[in-house]
Amino acid sequence: MRELVREHRIDPAQLVQPLFVVENPKDAGPIASMPGIERFTLQGAVHEARTLDALGLGAVLLFGIPETKDAAATKNYDPAGIVQQTAREIKNALPHMVVIADLCNCEYTDHGHCGILNERGDVDNDSTVEVLTRTALTYARSGVDVVAPSDMMDGRVRAIREALDAEDFEETAIMSYSAKYASAFYGPFREAAGSTPQFGDRRTYQMDPSNGREALREMALDAQEGADILMVKPALAYLDVVRAARDRFDLPIALYNVSGEYSMIKAAAHNGWIDEERAVHEMLVSFARAGANIVITYFAKEYAARSR
Ligand code: PBG
Repeated sequence: MRELVREHRIDPAQLVQPLFVVENPKDAGPIASMPGIERFTLQGAVHEARTLDALGLGAVLLFGIPETKDAAATKNYDPAGIVQQTAREIKNALPHMVVIADLCNCEYTDHGHCGILNERGDVDNDSTVEVLTRTALTYARSGVDVVAPSDMMDGRVRAIREALDAEDFEETAIMSYSAKYASAFYGPFREAAGSTPQFGDRRTYQMDPSNGREALREMALDAQEGADILMVKPALAYLDVVRAARDRFDLPIALYNVSGEYSMIKAAAHNGWIDEERAVHEMLVSFARAGANIVITYFAKEYAARSR
């Protein structure tokens, strides 16, 4: 009877597994702060994508880790860059698989900020948007189905949409990290992606955790600019924002269950302090209850494997 009257279920088809892909095979291997997650070589990522596809997952979200970085993030829009190559190979092997590419500069800049710096050392909005647009085109040309700008620059969704349309990529979708908070929960990711800012922090472009209404304003702007999917990130401390967004917008709402949220559960379970399986299920179903349609989570693969 409990099953009959159950209000929410998690379907692997709504889960997205992030994949870290390294350009230099020497950088591949486990990530100490994220037990169970690794950095893949190109071939490793294609192999992993096959496994995830067989498990019925909704999509993969690619993060590239280039061999070299510079101030202008030039490797980001290299047609032979690691994300571009990986997308091409996954789409060749699995044409039906949805490939999402995170679109940001922080893994590609030597200073680790998400944008291009001006002479004062601040992130410059408009030149950053130019690089993002150029990069988005190289992703679309490589077969990426969804580009996911995660930088929080203003006006980037419209600029990317216009550039994609001008090259006849009308069908390439945009999942915007619309409400991305300046969060302590990204810690393990920055180790994984080697993207910790070398100075300062991301508070000039990411949101203040104290603000909820501002998130809705950011989401409304992205919707107007042509975003196809709106995202809230991180997840656990922001479920009120997800609920408000679900009630206000008709677009699909994605939720990013970030690295720190993953590692907290893994660490506690490793110590025998909580039951991992139950905790993960309880957390994922809370996302569905709050109104999320798409859940990006490092637990996607394990969860899907268990639900078979
Ligand atoms: C930026 C980006 C970040 C994450 C996803 N995209 C890091 C940041 O903003 O510092 C974090 C994801 C996570 O913590 O799991 N490209």
